[in-house]
Amino acid sequence: MTVIKVHLDKRSYPVVIGTNTLHRLGRLAKKQISQGRVFIIYDAQVFALYSESLNAVFDELGVDVIETNLPEGERAKSDRVARRLYEWLITNQVSRDDFILACGGGVTSDLTGYVAATILRGVSWGVASTTLLGMVDAAIGGKTGINHRKGKNLVGAFWQPSFVVCDMGFLPTLSHRQMLAGMGETVKYAGLIGETMIGVVKRHLASEDMYNSMTLSRLVRMSVRYKASIVSQDEREERRRMVLNLGHTFAHALEHAVGYGKLLHGETVILGLYAAAELSCLLKPARVKNLVAYKTILRRLIAMLPRRKVQKERLLEAMALDKKRTGQKLKFVLLDRPGKPFITSDVPMELIEKSADKMLKVYSSEGGSVASNSGY
Ligand code: GLY
Repeated sequence: MTVIKVHLDKRSYPVVIGTNTLHRLGRLAKKQISQGRVFIIYDAQVFALYSESLNAVFDELGVDVIETNLPEGERAKSDRVARRLYEWLITNQVSRDDFILACGGGVTSDLTGYVAATILRGVSWGVASTTLLGMVDAAIGGKTGINHRKGKNLVGAFWQPSFVVCDMGFLPTLSHRQMLAGMGETVKYAGLIGETMIGVVKRHLASEDMYNSMTLSRLVRMSVRYKASIVSQDEREERRRMVLNLGHTFAHALEHAVGYGKLLHGETVILGLYAAAELSCLLKPARVKNLVAYKTILRRLIAMLPRRKVQKERLLEAMALDKKRTGQKLKFVLLDRPGKPFITSDVPMELIEKSADKMLKVYSSEGGSVASNSGY
């Protein structure tokens, strides 16, 4: 079991990474309450796999549990589902002595955290993260929220959990696409951390088994260590935390251009990272040699993405909309080389277009096969 701490003074908390974590999870939740109950919000799939055994653990610990589950997918991150959860909590007379536990991936933790932040002006909460994307990114750092019809995560709050538990035993239950989406955020961390993590990603891909638990658990630990350190330095994304948006300017526009739900967020991050690497090279050709290995990894992942129609015009329109909304120039996180990210708004439109072109060309020529569950 590895424990990595997010340091935020009195709101510091552990991220526990391991297998067979049920009892640890139960004890962590029990520690948060003196006489309260635990309200568990499950992802639908996780509910079927997990609720019986988790209930048995809480039973043993003498903790009262009330549970519910969510509709599948990104559509759960809505005002409608949040309202349903408020109803459920209020009907069950939730109080600030209680504790709310999210069991699922990024959608479940984003939504649960938001509901926990807003009910009774804030009830403590924790996460049992069950997807690769949740473990390496979404569950950590207290960004919570729901989507609005005008865009993703437009309504939300920073509300740090009291703990995050990442049980690696869940990963073999994920579909190929969920794993690929998780690899999108994981490879983002490889770009931010540099050569050591790129080496582990290469070994992971070479093993031809995307569920390879040895390399996966190293990748999760490396990503969590990096994210915990960044959040500890800049909780509210005033400076340093912005680097975690590597690849995301393109990725968010892609999600919009392709149509929400057609590609998973992490899948668009793979394409966004490729476009960001191309843009880094276009801005300074001396970077080409620094980013060869990184682009090779991304091309390998792009080759596994499901094929979707992307119109370049719609992509650029979505980027322009983003610019209009923030009232600023578009901001990009780019790479001088792996491990050396930088932030810039000083990017000519023609180079943005050119990098989008290059990414779309690779996607249309190499993307398009959803491989079987067995490997890369
Ligand atoms: N997912 C990026 C962040 O938490 O800042």
